[in-house]
Amino acid sequence: MDIRNELVKYKDIIEEHLDKILPNEEGYQKKIYEAMRYSIFAGGKRLRPFLILKTCEMVSGNYKNALPFASAIEMIHTYSLIHDDLPAMDDDDLRRGRPTNHKVFGEAIAILAGDGLLNFAFETMIKAMINDNSEKYINAFNEISKAAGIHGMIGGQVVDILSENKEIDKDTLDFIHKKKTSALIEASVVAGGILGGATNEEVEALRDYGRSIGLGFQIRDDILDRIGNVENLGKDIGSDEENNKATYLSLYGIDNAIEKTKELCTNACNSLRLFDKYETSIFTELAEYLVYRKK
Ligand code: IPE
Ligand code: IPE
Ligand code: MG
Ligand code: MG
Ligand code: MG
Repeated sequence: MDIRNELVKYKDIIEEHLDKILPNEEGYQKKIYEAMRYSIFAGGKRLRPFLILKTCEMVSGNYKNALPFASAIEMIHTYSLIHDDLPAMDDDDLRRGRPTNHKVFGEAIAILAGDGLLNFAFETMIKAMINDNSEKYINAFNEISKAAGIHGMIGGQVVDILSENKEIDKDTLDFIHKKKTSALIEASVVAGGILGGATNEEVEALRDYGRSIGLGFQIRDDILDRIGNVENLGKDIGSDEENNKATYLSLYGIDNAIEKTKELCTNACNSLRLFDKYETSIFTELAEYLVYRKK
């Protein structure tokens, strides 16, 4: 199996589902639908929904049952990007190869489009839970809502912002990375496993895998902010330095940061040992791909 082909295949499935569920009708609030769709359909790797669908499948689940959750997590992630780019936060002009949401729609609509995506994500998950009143759905919902909130992504973003222009220690940097980025990635693999019927032991092994690739993903993001290529990335580089952010590079230097991503990749692959009876090669390939990704 080739990871790149798999990502493309699932990207189509996810985008088709998002297009089906995201409102698009005429009416007084048409502008917000437009702004929400603008950022959702600007591209993006769709890593988090991919992880939900693939972990669900790995433990013998049907990925179709996980689609509402996969779409919801992509909405939450996209909202976090819209808000992250706002002048009050990282103040960036390019995202997913397009001008950022606030550059096109203005700040007020961009804030509302982010809020709109966040709330619609929860509506989407609840709707699936009402249709299928199972414990699996409730547990997956619990994982995703915790990871998106003050104990997860928002908690990390807060400390990221409060740490601008400051020297922070290793533990604070770890907190920021684990929360702002790793939490949603971890929740994706855990929710997928739960929806596919994983045992508690399997869920915990998936959690370890998600934590390692999640942390590695943000360190690679920091590396790409320094050495990446704008065309590949679809976002401007040098944003961290401009905002005087504490990153793995600012604390440890680029060589150590690269070493750390390799170490995390090995840890992630080791977490998969429990799944010997399943086909795990796609997850090993994914961990390796994330270390060297250029976008
Ligand atoms: C960017 O996430 C923000 C981080 C958490 C590092 P991605 O690199 O997954 O962005 P898209 O979804 O592909 O645009
Ligand atoms: C953002 O981290 C993580 C989010 C929760 C959005 P960054 O600020 O480094 O993400 P990019 O580089 O703008 O995508
Ligand atoms: Mg940021
Ligand atoms: Mg940013
Ligand atoms: Mg970044």
